[in-house]
Amino acid sequence: MSSHVFYVPSTNLMGAGCLADVGPHIQELGFKKALLVTDKFLNSNGIADKVKNVLEISNVEYAVYDEVQPNPTTVNVHNGVLAYKENECDFIVSVGGGSPQDTAKAIGLVVTNGGHIKGYEGVGKTKNKSVPIVAVNTTAGTSSEFTINYVITDEERQVKMVMVDKNSLVAISVNDPELMINKPAALTAATGVDALTHAIEAIVTPGAYSVTDATALAAVKIIFEYLPRAVKDGHDIEAREQMTYVMFLAGIAFNNAGLGFVHAMAHQLGGVYDLPHGVCNAMLLPIVERENAKRDPKKFSAIAKAIGLNIEGKTDEECAEEVVEAIKELCKTVGIPSKLSELGVNEVDLDKLADFALKDACALGNPYEPTKEEVIEMYKEIL
Ligand SMILES: [Fe+2]
Repeated sequence: MSSHVFYVPSTNLMGAGCLADVGPHIQELGFKKALLVTDKFLNSNGIADKVKNVLEISNVEYAVYDEVQPNPTTVNVHNGVLAYKENECDFIVSVGGGSPQDTAKAIGLVVTNGGHIKGYEGVGKTKNKSVPIVAVNTTAGTSSEFTINYVITDEERQVKMVMVDKNSLVAISVNDPELMINKPAALTAATGVDALTHAIEAIVTPGAYSVTDATALAAVKIIFEYLPRAVKDGHDIEAREQMTYVMFLAGIAFNNAGLGFVHAMAHQLGGVYDLPHGVCNAMLLPIVERENAKRDPKKFSAIAKAIGLNIEGKTDEECAEEVVEAIKELCKTVGIPSKLSELGVNEVDLDKLADFALKDACALGNPYEPTKEEVIEMYKEIL
């Protein structure tokens, strides 16, 4: 017997065209002026305009803060807090993928808790709930709009600070696949495999239980079916819509079960080399899960079944091998690079990366604790 807490935002809009429906929800909560947190690209390519349009129709004022960078930094957070205060906002609307969402959460918490974002690294460091956030997601992957986690890069230390904090949970999440149809194939692939990593790490972690297993296994099944379609044809609205459901299923699973060493290692590649999160996860996922399966293979038959592999008469170990191969095959199909050296990663940094990975908050969720040498070996395999 064990007890569990399940965190999920109280209102979640999803499906094609759902952005148009968010206005009444905002009005109901009585908000007056939003800080719209996004990046320069989304603020100039028409996506943020769609959200501004919904706010205007709903008679909600807004000010725009569009300085968020990929792998957002403490400076992005600090300037966002200033913008929120200067414009006398009373809530946040975040528009984008993981970077604007994570930045919005950090801004929202610094506004209500004070101090500096560097003081929030780790688990449950704030007292007060964030200012209310309406999180409009534009990529199918990170699930930041559903979770109690966010990641901010401390540019001075070159460290991705992982925060796990229930006070960062957004008020309303919006996942409209119509905002995602123009995403390039590489981004669709990277964010889609990020969602797969969320699902699989949520299944193999000791924090998993029947509720999180149910949603994570459903996510695995849908990803293998629809991600190649979404990557091949970005305008395949059915595939895009299925990927938004996947994000929810995988997001609520890992939000409540935890993650593992794929994320712990990927965060460091993002922090030191500014590499895309989903790509790092995708490259590390088969390697880390192969090692996890050596210690604890029992969940891999369920994963194999969800993928659609024939598991009849096979041991958990055999299923694990097939799962690892299926992940590699999927990554190849959707065009994930296979070598870190192609992305500029240098062998001399592996020692530092391994040190950081062992201290990452996600490391705690892994089924076993690798040694530093083992972590370096895993990096080396994909160097
Ligand atoms: Fe992730």
